[in-house]
Amino acid sequence: MSHPSKHLLAIEGLEPPHIADLLDLAESYALLNRSGKTQRDLLKGRTLINLFFEDSTRTRTSFELAGKRLGADVINMSVSTSSVNKGETLLDTASTLNAMQCDLLVIRHAQSGAPALLSQKVDAAVINAGDGTHEHPTQALLDALTIRRHKGRLEGLIVAICGDIAHSRVARSNIHLLGTMGARVRIVGPPTLIPADAARLGVEVFTDMRAGLKDADVVMMLRLQRERMAAGGLVPSAREFFRFYGLDAEKLALAKPDSIVMHPGPMNRGVEIDSAIADHPTRSVIGEQVEMGVACRMAVLDILARRLPRNR
Ligand code: ASP
Ligand code: CP
Repeated sequence: MSHPSKHLLAIEGLEPPHIADLLDLAESYALLNRSGKTQRDLLKGRTLINLFFEDSTRTRTSFELAGKRLGADVINMSVSTSSVNKGETLLDTASTLNAMQCDLLVIRHAQSGAPALLSQKVDAAVINAGDGTHEHPTQALLDALTIRRHKGRLEGLIVAICGDIAHSRVARSNIHLLGTMGARVRIVGPPTLIPADAARLGVEVFTDMRAGLKDADVVMMLRLQRERMAAGGLVPSAREFFRFYGLDAEKLALAKPDSIVMHPGPMNRGVEIDSAIADHPTRSVIGEQVEMGVACRMAVLDILARRLPRNR
């Protein structure tokens, strides 16, 4: 089982065998979770700290569950009630946690590059749980696992990632992962929400959603990241955005008849996705994405823990 680093900071830089190993291990954890069994000896004696400087429901909870199912001691640091509010810096907070001999540090931060910076200052293995507009690597892993379970492969699939691409770390991690594994990635959105470096990313760009969805195997919808839109005027009203870029039954009919619909969550129903599609019993795999999130995070913790020194 290979992993090229002590940390998981990004998908960019991982090779196909690294990704395939993580997905295969995650698949075995998905089966274990469905059987109701746990493996509490694997991370026994290890400490995992969740350090979230941005809001989260799925990622934080699933890292907590993943750590506990593998037997780690899990601490959820509440940043809003921590000494960060008394002016302590990110690096001083990290050194404090380091002194407590934390083994695995899961961090989400509004600043792109914050997890990479921390990884140079602490002994723990650092896992990026989303940094600014940069990457959200475990999200891309859980998305890939979900796609693989439905389509049996990633190679050759047409994946349309739609909405606010420019501000989305989910889009960036998915573009790297799916491209590395041989999928054909399209990004679809208004010109104001297409990243300036789109050409470098090796994707096809569509500003007409109907054209972008044509014959897609996978339709991945993204929330408008309003918290990252410093400049106003990037999108028209929510109603108008939905009309042109929201996924409804009429637009979905352009994708392949057996295409699946994904969303990383949280959803804004009626803005980027119609409720009937989000809850569609056969096409929507949004609930399964959340389930695979726990399995993928167990796989990541497992693989990184193998590289940790035994006694810290
Ligand atoms: N939850 C994902 C993220 O933190 C997507 C989103 O917030 O829209 O990047
Ligand atoms: N998809 C995702 O990262 O969700 P949260 O922001 O709720 O963690």
